[in-house]
Amino acid sequence: MDWREDAKRRAALEAVKHVKDGFVVGLGSGSTAAFAIREIGRRIREENLKVLGVSTSYQSYILAVECGIPITNLGEHPQIDLDIDGADQIDRDLNLIKGGGGALLREKVVASAAKEVIIVADETKLSRRLGENRVIPLEVLPFAVPVVMLKVKKIGGNPRLREKNTGGPYITDNGNFILDVDFGPIDDPEELDRKLKSIPGIVETGLFIGMTNMAYIGTPNNVRVIQRTR
Ligand code: A5P
Repeated sequence: MDWREDAKRRAALEAVKHVKDGFVVGLGSGSTAAFAIREIGRRIREENLKVLGVSTSYQSYILAVECGIPITNLGEHPQIDLDIDGADQIDRDLNLIKGGGGALLREKVVASAAKEVIIVADETKLSRRLGENRVIPLEVLPFAVPVVMLKVKKIGGNPRLREKNTGGPYITDNGNFILDVDFGPIDDPEELDRKLKSIPGIVETGLFIGMTNMAYIGTPNNVRVIQRTR
């Protein structure tokens, strides 16, 4: 296993220690969150832990079922105890870029429903400023894509329609498209998020501002914890 895989796993294991009996847990998407889902499954089997999971994508749903995690939904549990998810980029205030795997909309809804959000990642995800060598994914209504592209360019972004490996637009779990937008390093992510959300047709942005309570960051030899201070 290369050090990043091991670092992701160690970070995920720390986060899963926060899961308590009776919790409803948000199950994030991506390779780091997958380690957390497997660990929750292990605790259910070996410790007889009683938890329910709310998945953030079909990917996390399928893995959770494989791991024996009973699944619920936001209709049954509009408030959840803890959400554990990965991230594509993390700044010092624990603001995030998410959506590299295309699951940003459901991930943001689940995070917003959670009393506590813990992010798990390896240290390559840390960045002084969001947008440094990283695009911002936007989930966009397919009908609105040309209009959104024009408007995003007007506010300084360089958008590209995400495509499947086999060609054609990538389609999200919600039937929408993804625009990956390069804004360069972002001075004020909150302001950019506000501007983007005011563009009709953008269903959600991959900027997660002020939603994270803490992060476990796997390093080559250790796991760092970062708590939100403001
Ligand atoms: C999914 O859409 C993303 O938000 C993921 O949480 C993010 O891409 C992190 O994935 P990895 O843990 O695989 O890097």
